[in-house]
Amino acid sequence: MKKADKIRIMEEMNTELLSLKKSPLYEYRTQNGYLPVVGDGDCSAKIMFIGEAPGKNEAKTGKPFCGTAGKILDKLLNSIDLERKDVFITNIVKDRPPENRDPSLEEIDIYGPFLDKQIEVIQPKIIATLGRYSMNYVLEKFGLKEKLLPIGEIHGKFFDSNTTYGSVKVVVLYHPCVAVYNGSKIGILMEDFKIIKKLLDK
Ligand code: URA
Repeated sequence: MKKADKIRIMEEMNTELLSLKKSPLYEYRTQNGYLPVVGDGDCSAKIMFIGEAPGKNEAKTGKPFCGTAGKILDKLLNSIDLERKDVFITNIVKDRPPENRDPSLEEIDIYGPFLDKQIEVIQPKIIATLGRYSMNYVLEKFGLKEKLLPIGEIHGKFFDSNTTYGSVKVVVLYHPCVAVYNGSKIGILMEDFKIIKKLLDK
């Protein structure tokens, strides 16, 4: 698929999300003047990062990871010689949950198909999950449920799977937010990010 077509599909997705009245987050978004957050970056990237859900900054701007967690993500990307323009970044849930609460199962069910479509369109060779919500979703989606363990046991590991468009490697990472509350976690994240560089260099 041409890049222009991929970009068009993402724009259409944005329009669809704007009128997604069946979402429990629709009213909260419209009442607060927030935006859905489709994703950002290169629609033909080899690597896709998947977070949890937009926070306040993201819902205000429509861009993923543009607050504190985003600054950490930028630092981690830079540590392996990547920039945002080299990757595609999105979340499972495309609207902000009130007070940054965890996404509900219903919300994951509603927004999951949008993420599935983005994966089909971008066709990444590497999918890096950020945090346990996207880890659970992506491992299950790609038939890797038996690999699922608490994130503390599988962060920094990768798993091979197959998709409709070929093979994919799923890399499990902590959510960058963990480094906001626990300074020592940045070292672990940096170490784990090195696996992405190794896979990209292969
Ligand atoms: N946390 C996420 O999971 N996603 C964002 O876009 C921002 C913070």
